Amino acid sequence: MPFGEENMAKTGKPVIQVKDLYKIYRVGDTKVRALNGVDFTIYKGEFCSIVGTSGSGKSTLLNMLAGLEKPTKGEIVIAGEHMEKKTENQLVKFRREHIGFIFQSFNLMSTMNAVENVALPLTFQGVRKAQRMKKAGELLDLVGLKKYKKHKPMQMSGGQQQRVGVARALVVEPEIVFADEPTGNLDSNTSEEVMRLMQKVVREKNQTLVMVTHDNHLAGFADRIFHIKDGKIVKIEDHTEKRAAEVGPAGDGVPAETVGGNAGEAPGQQTEKEDGAQGAAGNGGAD
Ligand SMILES: Nc1ncnc2c1ncn2[C@@H]1O[C@H](COP(=O)(O)OP(=O)(O)OP(=O)(O)O)[C@@H](O)[C@H]1O
Ligand SMILES: [Mg+2]
Repeated sequence: MPFGEENMAKTGKPVIQVKDLYKIYRVGDTKVRALNGVDFTIYKGEFCSIVGTSGSGKSTLLNMLAGLEKPTKGEIVIAGEHMEKKTENQLVKFRREHIGFIFQSFNLMSTMNAVENVALPLTFQGVRKAQRMKKAGELLDLVGLKKYKKHKPMQMSGGQQQRVGVARALVVEPEIVFADEPTGNLDSNTSEEVMRLMQKVVREKNQTLVMVTHDNHLAGFADRIFHIKDGKIVKIEDHTEKRAAEVGPAGDGVPAETVGGNAGEAPGQQTEKEDGAQGAAGNGGAD
């Protein structure tokens, strides 16, 4: 598939630009500076991870990028559009058209089998049934679940369910995928498989992936690693060249107990009615 994406950071076009971003929560009469002046740019085709300890501001940052929360101050430009200037309805539309989510807890529809779950977001785009099933089937092949298309969530392992969630997040081919602790429920081997899978899928489609994790090892799968501490980016590690050199026979089948992830629109609490589709499919509580 598309390759030659080495040095994305230098040659790609910016898809996410964050400028002087602050998020201050008021709790009683104290202020929590969840984001305390953040600046960075992420380029098309990059896989970036945001790593930091609990409470460092990772989820706050991701929620802000996804337009789920308004910044106290600063700018967020995604695919050329200012998120902080959009109304709630505009944000819903924007998310639906540009963004996919993978969350820690997989909220698949229990009455639907794997292929129906993956096809669900396409329903809301008005895609016809035959086409939906075809596309969903292809995604399930991609995540190594060819034999599990008819399985309902209860008939699959946690890792398999999470792979269904990954497939569901990617079926609409979002330009940008946000993942918040996508492997939080999985063992370390399975988590690595999920990382490789996300790496591969995103690379093949030249999508941009931003993943939040507290796990340094998993963060290391990214092209660039943003370290966040007390609401500030304190270091950016660039492994772009190393990653590009590694691109090789990636597509080996993912073992049965593998991937994880779960797609949905917003983290539960903020899913608007209009989001119905993805909302229903995945109110993945981020934490
Ligand atoms: N709605 C809120 N109201 C008040 N304080 C908040 C709110 N959301 C987050 N915070 C605070 O902001 C800081 C950053 O929280 P955030 O959820 O972004 O951390 P995190 O890095 O995602 O942590 P974790 O790894 O535990 O998920 C924390 O101190 C948290 O207590
Ligand atoms: Mg968090």
